[in-house]
Amino acid sequence: MSGELEALIIGPGAMGCLHAALMAEAGLEVALLDYRAERAARIAERGIIVEEDGEKRTVPIVCGVDPSTMGSAQYGIIFVKAYDTVEAVTRAVPALRDDASMLTLQNGIGNYERISEIIPPARVLAGTTTTGATLLGDGHVRVAGRGSVQFGSPKGNPRRVRATEALLARGGIEHETTIAVDDVLWAKAIVNAAINPLTALTGLRNGMLVEHDELRELMRAVVREAATVARACGIFVREDIGMMVESICGATAENRSSMLQDVTAGKRTEIDFINGEIARRAEEREREAPICRLLTSLIHGREQAGLTET
Ligand code: PAF
Repeated sequence: MSGELEALIIGPGAMGCLHAALMAEAGLEVALLDYRAERAARIAERGIIVEEDGEKRTVPIVCGVDPSTMGSAQYGIIFVKAYDTVEAVTRAVPALRDDASMLTLQNGIGNYERISEIIPPARVLAGTTTTGATLLGDGHVRVAGRGSVQFGSPKGNPRRVRATEALLARGGIEHETTIAVDDVLWAKAIVNAAINPLTALTGLRNGMLVEHDELRELMRAVVREAATVARACGIFVREDIGMMVESICGATAENRSSMLQDVTAGKRTEIDFINGEIARRAEEREREAPICRLLTSLIHGREQAGLTET
């Protein structure tokens, strides 16, 4: 296929597959960009399988690895792991119109800044999503719960925000906009910094972190430390962020966090862009974030073990 595309979804992980499927079901011209030819061919042939509310459906989708043959998209939405951002955006450029907007809904801090080195910053939008999904196999996703997207323009470009809002509305993606993009990204990063490494190191589901006294205390300490760094960076952090983290553990009690899924699969995690980045930002300001630093080292060790296990 080669023609006008409304949206190019970059990254066939759980969130990329789910959002591509939802937008295709809503009738948008959407394509999914992968980098592994075999997997892309399988997804293109079969479609995306979505399991939701105990039911299973297959959504036909355009999926490929060669952006120059995929059409010309008005919007890119990127879901790849934070460590793949630069490579993925660079690969996607031939499938984007010259004035295309690029929305990142990835985990971690620093993604939109890296994207803005490739795409003009005024065209870059950033945000978070509270939707939970698990990848069960290639192009096969289970929805844990539909949430909503919160996004905005780090450069303060209201025209792009309004146009992207219209796209998400037509695609059936719940959303709200914000003018405080960095505050939103940091709030999500603090949630991830507190929940993800502790679940990945213990093997526990999110809900158990609040059931276990020592882990709950450790989680609270991570939140305090990360919030202090965020405030030192000029970020507004709500006073009750600790309560918010605990209620997310409750609301996602049965979830295996994305980092637990990564270490279980022997994959690299996003720790360097969450706790590692928080510790790095602290050091930049001549402060310390010893718990985030320690958790980063432990996860690196866990990654090493996973990558060398057979
Ligand atoms: O990364 C994740 O798994 C999720 O962002 C969260 C909120 C921790 C729920 O599992």
